[in-house]
Amino acid sequence: MKIVNLDTLMEVAIDATRQAGALLRMHWERGVAAEHKGAIDLVTEADRAAEALILRVIRERFPAHGFLAEESGKSDTRSSHVWIIDPLDGTTNFAHGYPQFAVTLALQIDGRTELGVTLDVLRGELFTAQRDRGAFLNGRPIRVSNTPDLASSLLVTGFPYDRQTSLHNNVRQHEAFLMRCQGVLRAGSASLDLAAVACGRLDGYWEFKLFPWDMAAGVLLVKLAGGRVTDTGGGPPGLHSPGIVASNGLIHQEMLDVLRETPLQSAAGAVA
Ligand code: IPD
Ligand code: CA
Ligand code: CA
Repeated sequence: MKIVNLDTLMEVAIDATRQAGALLRMHWERGVAAEHKGAIDLVTEADRAAEALILRVIRERFPAHGFLAEESGKSDTRSSHVWIIDPLDGTTNFAHGYPQFAVTLALQIDGRTELGVTLDVLRGELFTAQRDRGAFLNGRPIRVSNTPDLASSLLVTGFPYDRQTSLHNNVRQHEAFLMRCQGVLRAGSASLDLAAVACGRLDGYWEFKLFPWDMAAGVLLVKLAGGRVTDTGGGPPGLHSPGIVASNGLIHQEMLDVLRETPLQSAAGAVA
């Protein structure tokens, strides 16, 4: 395969992301028709249209690249270059008319994430992470916060769609953090949660049961902005980790301690 430099790949990533953002904005302004994937999990026409557009833009330039995309799954994953795509992160917000959602995508080369882009569609904030250049918001370098401890932190989390049946419903953990910090948001878009940690607006984030496309760009953003990202046990984060913790680094151990001390509990009360 022809070698393409990261700057060129980033230009295409930004172009695809911005075009998808414009499409989502158009759907948003027209009003949204949602369908259910599961009891809580929604999918909209806009999800599918934005994903098709991103795939088209990238394929036109790089026909040999592979994809891992939320709505259409995997293709050509034998390729050394794999794009990981969430065309609409924050679908529940979007479908309810709550103005917090993103387009997020990342590129892995030989299994390593080299670049990531997350667009906060309505605010027009473009977060970019490129391994050899750093983390940026609308072209300006960003850095994690310097909040020194959990007690003075503002955190964010999310809850899985299958929380009514999963032990990883995050209810006990949410409560435990709430009692130890200044606040816990649930903003409804994992990629924007990670971006907020990367630019120092929030101090830490944890969530169970994310998919690779929810976090690929955000994990790189936080790392390149000087933060720390691990799985919930403190090990290296994988895109298939059962949960992740991302922080400014300073509060990371305290966050891991809270998770270690808080048992999982099902909605029916069974403790693991
Ligand atoms: C969801 C959002 C949400 C998170 C869920 C994700 P979607 O993605 O990122 O914040 O809590 O775990 O699945 O379904 O809106 O693309
Ligand atoms: Ca998502
Ligand atoms: Ca999505």
